[in-house]
Amino acid sequence: MEYRHISVAPVAGALGAEVGAVNLNGELPDPVLAEIRHAWLRHLVLFFRDHHLTADQYLAFARRIAEPVEYPMLRGLDGYPLIVPVIKLPHERVNFGGLWHSDTAYLETPPIGATLLARELPPVGGDTLFANMYLAYETLSDGLRRVLDGLRAVNSSAKADVTRTREDRLAEGGAKLAADAAFSAVHPVVRTHPETGRKLLYVNGGHTVRFEDMTEDESAPLLNYLFAHLCRPEFTCRLRWQVGTLALWDNRCTQHNPINDYHGHRRVMHRISLGADRPV
Ligand code: SIN
Repeated sequence: MEYRHISVAPVAGALGAEVGAVNLNGELPDPVLAEIRHAWLRHLVLFFRDHHLTADQYLAFARRIAEPVEYPMLRGLDGYPLIVPVIKLPHERVNFGGLWHSDTAYLETPPIGATLLARELPPVGGDTLFANMYLAYETLSDGLRRVLDGLRAVNSSAKADVTRTREDRLAEGGAKLAADAAFSAVHPVVRTHPETGRKLLYVNGGHTVRFEDMTEDESAPLLNYLFAHLCRPEFTCRLRWQVGTLALWDNRCTQHNPINDYHGHRRVMHRISLGADRPV
């Protein structure tokens, strides 16, 4: 597609593109929105630079993509419950969501996407990695794809790996639920993207605990193989944030992993989860 209203520059072979020549702090005309949506489906994660949006402007932009939804366990900003601060403080050692995951796959209808806006950054570090789950699926052997096509998996909010990455946020009183309250949902291991029609791998190390009708021990060898496979470097791109960078990812077909390499510094991001659908 020729872009007539925005510029789109891919940042890596697997996924990710920087979008320019666009104003996100006002009315987003339909033809501009259509090009953004086209680029989003094609590149899976989009980066917009130098958008120092107010909370109202940020929400208005998010609403043009999909209906914002609350994040299950975290409280939003005062007056803006749909905007969740993702913060790491200088004395903290864990970073929120600091492992490969897709967002809240433990919900029956996880968000279709999410957006993150950088407010305060460490002097260096704090980048975020993204990975393409179409490629993760398409690069498996025919035989393994046939096995996975018929499987479903249990996803939980209480998996120890991801719980560890939320402890600081829950402890500081931002939690809406008791830390031990758990969500759980069973989803297909291979899902089909409802807009592109492409199949993709839908298990993640943060939330997927076992295959349906199997024990965790029985599931672990194959799940661990898939968790290692899906983040191979050639399936990824890396976002180096600047204050005012806004990332918009498709949560149906990507995973992400914020790098925890900036101890002693503050990092503040504002995130909005977008839409909801049942993986099939
Ligand atoms: C998240 O998983 O939403 C956090 C991503 C980030 O901090 O870069």
